[in-house]
Amino acid sequence: MTTQTPTPQPGLGWPPEPPVPRGSAFGPWPAPGTRDYDPSNRSPASERRPDLPARPGYVRTKAAWPRPPSPRVIVVANQKGGVGKTTTTVNLAAALAQHGARVLIVDLDPQGNASTALRIEHGDGTPGVYDALVDGTSLAKLIQPCPDVAGLFVVPASIDLAGAEVELVPLLGRESRLRRALDSHLQELTESADRLDYVFLDCPPSLGLLTINALVAGQEMLVPIQCEYYALEGVRQLLRNVELIQAHLNAGLSVSTVILTMYDARTRLSAGVAQEVRDHFGDRVLRTAIPRSVRISEAPSYSQSVMTYDPSSPGAMSYDEAAAEMARRNEPSQRLQTETQEAS
Ligand SMILES: Nc1ncnc2c1ncn2[C@@H]1O[C@H](COP(=O)(O)OP(=O)(O)O)[C@@H](O)[C@H]1O
Ligand SMILES: [Mg+2]
Repeated sequence: MTTQTPTPQPGLGWPPEPPVPRGSAFGPWPAPGTRDYDPSNRSPASERRPDLPARPGYVRTKAAWPRPPSPRVIVVANQKGGVGKTTTTVNLAAALAQHGARVLIVDLDPQGNASTALRIEHGDGTPGVYDALVDGTSLAKLIQPCPDVAGLFVVPASIDLAGAEVELVPLLGRESRLRRALDSHLQELTESADRLDYVFLDCPPSLGLLTINALVAGQEMLVPIQCEYYALEGVRQLLRNVELIQAHLNAGLSVSTVILTMYDARTRLSAGVAQEVRDHFGDRVLRTAIPRSVRISEAPSYSQSVMTYDPSSPGAMSYDEAAAEMARRNEPSQRLQTETQEAS
């Protein structure tokens, strides 16, 4: 068999053409030993990065991680659908809660995928984030505890949220309604033992008013990037929108973290996209990439995060390690470092 090496094309990603996904029990990429497996599509050992998924050296413990001095409000956004926003939100939040943090997820996607994945009631008529945005209901009345993970709470989204994009338009302060609801909730809890450590805002795949509400309410942005061919195209547009939000609505917002999702260490494509993302975002990219894993994609159909569905799977280990990296960024010295780097 002849092995063809594609020619590098600067700026266009690597290789020039996306490989055609072919199904196998391993995911869309054929597993070694199966009929469709193509060894020429493997990245050579010299190109494989030691810091990518399932790092052999990572030891998972049950230890409590340090809690941040004040609640961190993290917007999980990328207007592209299917890049792993919800999966990342649910699993990072579950991992942080398993290590002693109190974590709230606000499900801002009318599909309610985050609510489903955590066994949270969100059928038609269930009070949810719609009521906070449109009617000004306080979040305390909407929050439900996740039955499988102590310390994890969800404001669910039901299908009526789909109408909120339109219903918000004539309302006063339409871009900052979530911020007001969240600020007053966090304020009420400041002195209590129920204080929250992390709030994740899981955005829908669009740049409409729901995502804008999240960007106005948040301090940090976490951008999941799927390791595939057109990964960076949507991200450029997202960053332009973030600049507009920073200039006009929320000067305190920063793109603090990027996470690589659905990474496949066996392909040049994943390695190439990962390298391009790391060149662009530097230290903001978590060292841990999340591997493409059947267990991760199966978990929601059992109304679970992979952290409870299969805690020892490589996917759960990777989300645990990524969450540990996020928790380490609590420390002021690290934040300062990131801010200094951004300023220079
Ligand atoms: N690491 C992964 N490995 C395999 N499948 C994944 C992984 N991450 C996400 N998925 C699957 O990809 C699909 C899209 O993920 P999702 O988190 O819902 O994306 P988004 O919220 O950005 O639309 C879902 O079916 C999910 O189960
Ligand atoms: Mg989603």
